[in-house]
Amino acid sequence: MAIAQIGATDKGGSRRLALTDLDREARDLFVRWCEEAGCVVTIDRMGNIFARRAGTDESLPPVLAGSHLDTQPNGGKFDGVFGVLAALEAVRALNEHRIETNRAIEIVDWTNEEGSRFAPAMIASGVFGGAFEVEYALARADVDGNTMAEELARIGYAGEAPVGGRALAAYLEAHIEQGPILEAEAKTIGVVQGAQAQRWFEVTLTGQDAHAGTTPMDRRRDALVSAASIVTEVDRIGRSVADGRATVGMLQASPNSRNTIPGACFLTVDMRHPDEDVLLGMTTELREYSAGIASDHGVEIDLREIWHAPPVVFDRRCVEAVEASVAEAGFAHMPIASGAGHDACYVARVAPAAMIFVPCVDGISHNELESATPGDLAAGAEVLVRALIRLADE
Ligand code: GLV
Ligand code: MN
Ligand code: MN
Repeated sequence: MAIAQIGATDKGGSRRLALTDLDREARDLFVRWCEEAGCVVTIDRMGNIFARRAGTDESLPPVLAGSHLDTQPNGGKFDGVFGVLAALEAVRALNEHRIETNRAIEIVDWTNEEGSRFAPAMIASGVFGGAFEVEYALARADVDGNTMAEELARIGYAGEAPVGGRALAAYLEAHIEQGPILEAEAKTIGVVQGAQAQRWFEVTLTGQDAHAGTTPMDRRRDALVSAASIVTEVDRIGRSVADGRATVGMLQASPNSRNTIPGACFLTVDMRHPDEDVLLGMTTELREYSAGIASDHGVEIDLREIWHAPPVVFDRRCVEAVEASVAEAGFAHMPIASGAGHDACYVARVAPAAMIFVPCVDGISHNELESATPGDLAAGAEVLVRALIRLADE
């Protein structure tokens, strides 16, 4: 709740975009809490924050747990923040009970998970997982042209540690489900098995600015009208396959003047499916449709795929450690697949990884009204600490 106050919104959510002053404030508070819990804090070149609680055998690779502190523009209090603070709470609980573990336990806050300010999402865990070069990631810019490198330096989180390249025994991430399944099934814990594939596109449409009063309808090259057709088609494609997801989340018309026909338009497309082939089919339909619209409307359409995240299957041994911990704690649980992307998806490329979901009210997320009960969040944290002990003592 203290972190949620940093960038608090009118309806009870948080607006704390990556690498803004508010993100810095949340990071500073998190670092202070970690130091108060006796952890040693390290920042890497992507601004990822690691807080280490030593193990009894410091020669062993550590177990890592965390998530992200950045939010969507109209984000909730729990997406990401819960996983970071559940890991901190696990460390505090170990301290209070004087429990030592063989392996060190590290808490992590990954930079820019959301991808709202800098695309693509999960970029800093992506560098850690070897999916992106650090130079590529640091050069990503927001809509105003500020790069991640500049903004990391500005807020004082451009660390010196190399990004990844070190051994981890395991990675665990606790997170709200962000969907309606656990609540509908009356389960407290979702044992996450994996995550679906995603492809992101940027679409730039170029027509011609023209006068709204004098230009006859048959002489227009209205980029926004073409964009509108694409928006509707994206939605149709998402509905046309079982388990499909397709979204236009961002749209900018130019010059955005009420009596000028928009000569330019920019929009983003987010498509997801558990099956790579089905997802590829969805994106092929989008490409073909856009080409048709371009020739029918006399508008140029540049459709560019900027991100592909393949589906992820989490490590069997880590998933079993979560399952055993839930059983030990006695919470109602079920296996579940993640519809959202998570830092765990990239960390899974370089370390055994798994996730723990707890329900969120009405399945609502990426919304200021996002909510979860204290009891469910505590249950998720308890499963996390039990699983951390298991993996850290192996
Ligand atoms: C992450 O927030 C996602 O969009 O899945
Ligand atoms: Mn998240
Ligand atoms: Mn999110």
